[in-house]
Amino acid sequence: MTKVFAYAIRKDEEPFLNEWKEAHKDIDVDYTDKLLTPETAKLAKGADGVVVYQQLDYTADTLQALADAGVTKMSLRNVGVDNIDMDKAKELGFQITNVPVYSPNAIAEHAAIQAARVLRQDKRMDEKMAKRDLRWAPTIGREVRDQVVGVVGTGHIGQVFMRIMEGFGAKVIAYDIFKNPELEKKGYYVDSLDDLYKQADVISLHVPDVPANVHMINDKSIAEMKDGLVIVNCSRGRLVDTDAVIRGLDSGKIFGFVMDTYEDEVGVFNKDWEGKEFPDKRLADLIDRPNVLVTPHTAFYTTHAVRNMVVKAFNNNLKLINGEKPDSPVALNKNKF
Ligand code: COI
Repeated sequence: MTKVFAYAIRKDEEPFLNEWKEAHKDIDVDYTDKLLTPETAKLAKGADGVVVYQQLDYTADTLQALADAGVTKMSLRNVGVDNIDMDKAKELGFQITNVPVYSPNAIAEHAAIQAARVLRQDKRMDEKMAKRDLRWAPTIGREVRDQVVGVVGTGHIGQVFMRIMEGFGAKVIAYDIFKNPELEKKGYYVDSLDDLYKQADVISLHVPDVPANVHMINDKSIAEMKDGLVIVNCSRGRLVDTDAVIRGLDSGKIFGFVMDTYEDEVGVFNKDWEGKEFPDKRLADLIDRPNVLVTPHTAFYTTHAVRNMVVKAFNNNLKLINGEKPDSPVALNKNKF
């Protein structure tokens, strides 16, 4: 009997995993809530493939341990593949899939909602309300329709974000090295990132963590941007030089910052720190700022998205196991490792 083993299954994923199991009674599905590590790799022994998701790196040791357990067909339940040691995966003959499109709306909606909240100074207003200070001033908002919104990356998520922002009435401009012909026809693209930086009041990042994009938001790029801008990062933490953004916030150049991803998030996000010593002073400072909205990489976290992540990853894994072409194979290209 074909066997699929899944790692790091959360409670909120179980109903969707069970739904897939019900629909595939001929497949033996087993799972753990543990992350895939060199130590836990042996749990997959006897399986034909594994379904995984984690923010921890898939290191050479982890991949080796999985290969030693006899498994090289690995299906990610998420999109990002920047934490896989691709050279090692290639050397060991891994076949990998991801889920590139599980719900662009989940992330785009979150980015849009948070951007609008920053513009309206909602966090300051919430803090006033909690103290029963019901005065209007000085928490005056900016309307989205008065902003030029610059979208960096016009893939699935970027496009939904553009539509939402246009729904609010904003003027939307975009930049991408891969131009979408429809968007190009409609005249959204500016010629360079510099052009976008110079024109935009709100800049939202929707590009992957590839070496060329690391710290694309830095002191130099921020200096080119308009005063009073809002930066939105619901994409990948390493796109932003956090210290540079802090300098921009301190100087007042940056009006607000939406941060769903953080370059040092691994080991900190998705953990309960209540009553414990918080491990990252810089992050604590950002969380406490009235014009910074930090969420712990939860833009994706909706029932719609989670269902698709589980179901699509299991479907992909089964296709790999059956020697069929999966819906979204991952090319094992060089990455940060
Ligand atoms: C991804 O799909 O790569 C994400 O960034 C969301 C993840 C936290 C599940």
